[in-house]
Amino acid sequence: MPDPCALVVFGVTGDLAKKKLIPAVYDLGNRGLLPPGFVLLGFARRDWGDGDFEQLARKAAEQHARTEFREDVWRRLADSIKFLPGSFDDDNAFDELDRTLVELEASHGIAGNVAFYLSIPPAAFPVVLKQLARTGMADGSERSGWRRVVVEKPFGHDLDSSVELNRLVDSVFTSHDVFRIDHYLGKETVQNLLALRFANTLFEPVWNSHYVDSVQITMAEDVGIEGRAGFYDSAGAARDVLQNHLLQLLALTAMEEPVAFDAEALRTEKHKVLGAISLPADLELSTVRGQYEQGWLAGERVKGYLDEEGVPPGSTTETYAAVRLGVETRRWAGVPFYLRTGKRLPRRVTEIAVIFKRAPHLPFAKTDTVELGNNQLVVRVQPDEGVTMRFGSKAPGSAMEIREVSMDFLYGSAFTESSPEAYERLLLDVLLGDKTLFPDHEEVEASWQVIDPLEEFWQGRIPQRYRAGEWGPRAAEDMLARDGRTWRRP
Ligand code: BG6
Repeated sequence: MPDPCALVVFGVTGDLAKKKLIPAVYDLGNRGLLPPGFVLLGFARRDWGDGDFEQLARKAAEQHARTEFREDVWRRLADSIKFLPGSFDDDNAFDELDRTLVELEASHGIAGNVAFYLSIPPAAFPVVLKQLARTGMADGSERSGWRRVVVEKPFGHDLDSSVELNRLVDSVFTSHDVFRIDHYLGKETVQNLLALRFANTLFEPVWNSHYVDSVQITMAEDVGIEGRAGFYDSAGAARDVLQNHLLQLLALTAMEEPVAFDAEALRTEKHKVLGAISLPADLELSTVRGQYEQGWLAGERVKGYLDEEGVPPGSTTETYAAVRLGVETRRWAGVPFYLRTGKRLPRRVTEIAVIFKRAPHLPFAKTDTVELGNNQLVVRVQPDEGVTMRFGSKAPGSAMEIREVSMDFLYGSAFTESSPEAYERLLLDVLLGDKTLFPDHEEVEASWQVIDPLEEFWQGRIPQRYRAGEWGPRAAEDMLARDGRTWRRP
């Protein structure tokens, strides 16, 4: 159970707050994981009182919470919901926030503990951080309790801007009080990757270049940009997903065993992997950028990217990115890691597929094994959370005919309790001060070092087109075909 505390959310009327943060707070309350002295304080530029914010929060919880909506849980939470109107450059509003936090010590017993959540556009980070510094609100040593800050991705736009952002954040908060959120690390199935690898003996002996042919990491979405043109068009798929979620998945797949399951040990191993990533020599042949055109998805006609509201005419931003990376360590040398992500692909699926080499020798007639592919171990991050193993098996009958089969572990049927949402887990960790599942700034910078050369190479190039509802541009298939491989069809 966390200490009594206040969670101050900047940008509380935004999509992230409504769809993820407020529902996660409700779910934690419903599970009895919020301390008695907990306050949710929204800050936004609205002429609102506590009641208006309570209404918004209630609707968000009713619509998006994972757990059942219960009136008694809500009543308890509603008593500790506060709202402060103000713009980020308004000194008076921040002075008022400071006063309110002091008052909450007496009225709600928050004991000076405050987490500030920056659910705001990156351009607004500096002004909010400066306000927190100016008022002294960021400084836990001046107050009785702890002060933490949660920074949402994107952490900068490239290496330089991320170094600059880190410098700014670190000048206001002490580094162990800074929580950078990559919500993929809060997903149960992503943490399960560590359990799978390091709690068992079965997989680790074959988890290397002697047995592994290649690794494919896919994050596909059927949705488009969902009204986020302003942000998305200046980012693109590589900055939005490859730089963070996919590289974190790669790091967890490829890293060595940490000496403990704690923040320090995990980070040490992730740093090593991220620092060992190599880009292919020929970026033309080993990277693909795409942009969706109008097409059909689930029986519905959907717009092309250029027709989405707010996208500038002729935009060359990519909505699909694929790349082949290497990991230059003894364990992985020579094994390609293929990463891909895209919007408006046929379905929503995230998975890590470890594809094994073919058996060096098959004591069967050639015709017996025509239907045998490479063995695969697939971590299904979402949906249908679980793990699949694919291997050859004798088909029933008098002939020795070997066919590929699947063995499945499904979270939904193996466990009775459902998994917490990523934000639920991560918010709780922020309040508990546990940084195990949060990337540090060195990881973020190492990830930009991988992405920057790609962005530089892509600069000024027109992305390849793909029709909404297809698995990305043709060039992505060609990229793997040149290596004698094909993408998995998840
Ligand atoms: C976010 C990206 O980080 O992740 C979005 O900015 C994307 O573009 C989202 O849609 C996907 O998250 P999830 O948890 O639904 O896979």
